[in-house]
Amino acid sequence: KRVAVIMGGWSSERDVSLSSGRGMAQAARNEGYDVVEIDVTRDLSTQLNDAKPDVVLNALHGPYGEDGCVQGLLEILEIPYSHSGVLASALAMDKAKSRDVYARVGLIVAEGGVYAKEDVAADHVMEPPYVVKPIAEGSSFGVLIVPEGANRPPAELLDPKWGFGDSVLVEQFIPGRELTVSVMGNEALAVTEITTLRDYYDYSAKYEAGGSKHVIPAQISDAVTQAALDAALVAHDALGCRGVSRSDFRYDDETNRLVILETNTQPGMTPTSLVPEQAAHKGISYEKLVRWMIEDASC
Ligand code: DAL
Ligand code: MG
Repeated sequence: KRVAVIMGGWSSERDVSLSSGRGMAQAARNEGYDVVEIDVTRDLSTQLNDAKPDVVLNALHGPYGEDGCVQGLLEILEIPYSHSGVLASALAMDKAKSRDVYARVGLIVAEGGVYAKEDVAADHVMEPPYVVKPIAEGSSFGVLIVPEGANRPPAELLDPKWGFGDSVLVEQFIPGRELTVSVMGNEALAVTEITTLRDYYDYSAKYEAGGSKHVIPAQISDAVTQAALDAALVAHDALGCRGVSRSDFRYDDETNRLVILETNTQPGMTPTSLVPEQAAHKGISYEKLVRWMIEDASC
């Protein structure tokens, strides 16, 4: 089978995607597939016409690659592709729309809402601590945490360097622990707790070696473990995801609240990423995980 691994692109997460993609391409080669690596440009359809793959293995992250755009192109070209389809990708990438879906199926979301960037920069829209997020980004790009007792709103939003759209999602900061759960097909793999010495699980904590510690399985009660596994499956199904996804949570020990933050339809496959670790925990090697993604592809 000829497999095109699409990676890179031009989102903020380009470098993360190149790391995911190179790892996935090597694994596919090790599994005996005929692999072509494509660094995605706006000419993707021409690149695919030249490569003539049987399957596209999607290693893109962020806008265009994870939000339904590339998925739509692959539907039009009738090339089977890995991971979620158009609608699930679009819903999951939009942190405001996915909150509505989660709430409708009974998952707990943080108190919050969508605001104009100017209003959030002008004055507190809720009592700190709270978190300001771009509506559609990944890897913590653009995330601002306003700590308890902060007396000024996040003015950084008005800096032209903060280029992540005119509206933002503002959510109450949930104290407690950072948990994540991967779903592969119809199975939730494991619960990992992430700890970091950084202020939070930011970009450097995510991708620098030693930036964070992953405890797998998370040292939480059986009941909370089961609740997190169930919630990840519910989120995956409610959004209509396919293949592999990964949902991120905060668990507040004090109030026993498990709050869903988001579902990633193109979760990282880098050397520090969580999905490959959870697969390995279940006895599935990186190579076999990639083989599964290729064989699961459809359009
Ligand atoms: N957005 C990054 C790639 C992740 O969720 O793993
Ligand atoms: Mg994300």
